[in-house]
Amino acid sequence: MNYKIATLPGDGIGPEVVDQAVKALNAIGKRFGHEFEFTFAWVGAIAIDKTGNPYPDETHELCLKSDAVLFGAIGDPKYDNDPKAKVRPEQGLLAMRKKLGLYANIRPVTTFESLLHKSPLKQEIIEGADFVVIRELTGGIYFGEPRGRSENGNTAFDTCVYTRDEVIRITKLAFEMAQKRRKKLTAVDKANVLATSRLWRETVQELASDYPDVELDYMFVDNAAMQLILNPAKFDVMVTENMFGDILTDEASVITGSLGMLPSASVGLHTSVFEPIHGSFPQGAGKNIANPIATILSAAMLLDSLQLFTEAALVRKAVAKSLEENYVTGDIATGKAYGTTQVGDRIAQIISEIE
Ligand code: IPM
Ligand code: MG
Repeated sequence: MNYKIATLPGDGIGPEVVDQAVKALNAIGKRFGHEFEFTFAWVGAIAIDKTGNPYPDETHELCLKSDAVLFGAIGDPKYDNDPKAKVRPEQGLLAMRKKLGLYANIRPVTTFESLLHKSPLKQEIIEGADFVVIRELTGGIYFGEPRGRSENGNTAFDTCVYTRDEVIRITKLAFEMAQKRRKKLTAVDKANVLATSRLWRETVQELASDYPDVELDYMFVDNAAMQLILNPAKFDVMVTENMFGDILTDEASVITGSLGMLPSASVGLHTSVFEPIHGSFPQGAGKNIANPIATILSAAMLLDSLQLFTEAALVRKAVAKSLEENYVTGDIATGKAYGTTQVGDRIAQIISEIE
């Protein structure tokens, strides 16, 4: 089969890690007789430099007509240190999510035997942790209006908005995911304080009777932040709103051993986007030190979305083998650290050779 992949490397280490995922997909293509057609486009700070727009129309058109989007990272310190900048790279990512209708961000968190000792958490705590965070991605405080500043500039405000329909669609997806896994769903909110959270809890309660086989519990986000590192193995599927999900998943990456390990899939109305959860790590850009595994595992999720399950499993197996071989970048190395491109080459090679 022939698949069109919109390839959006973005900023910082984005291009370096995306290149490694492309190598992995090409190795899969060669082995299974698929053709992946990669078409590159701008997004983020680089897109602002080239076109003035962090998510140019041509990029959006390309995403719409592709089978999947492979995304790197966005962000540039020249904007981080300039809070007055009118256009920001992050607006490109948010515009892409909104325009493609990607309301669900799926972030699986697993441990790898060979990395258990790398986590700053005790091995006995993280052993067996295997859960998925379903983060709402196109609503909440990230998008709510009004937002801005008072006339004198001394007051700033953001608005958190959710509609019942937005909560229903993501909650259904979370229940369905739980049904396919260990049948446990934790809805994370702040219903003791926020009106939006009370709407979430009410809606989740209403839907629960449609999924009698799923064990449901509710947790306040502050408690969830604590439980996540006290007892991560007790979670199966977690569903939460946009900003809580953003924060909890960076925290959850500590369980795996490095932020450079966590992949994600953003799904919704139009073409799905596959991206590592980490940012653009500008200090590491161009140094060949970034861990490409989060992006390679995102490519595995991309293969799953194309119903290429055997192929996806093979990518995961190759990643696990490279970890066992200690063929890894500095963030997770105990001995010698390999470069981004070397790790990418090794994983592609394992994909073509492994039984
Ligand atoms: C993420 C990132 C983004 C977010 C930033 C870069 C806008 O942190 O994908 O988790 O907050 O959603
Ligand atoms: Mg984040």
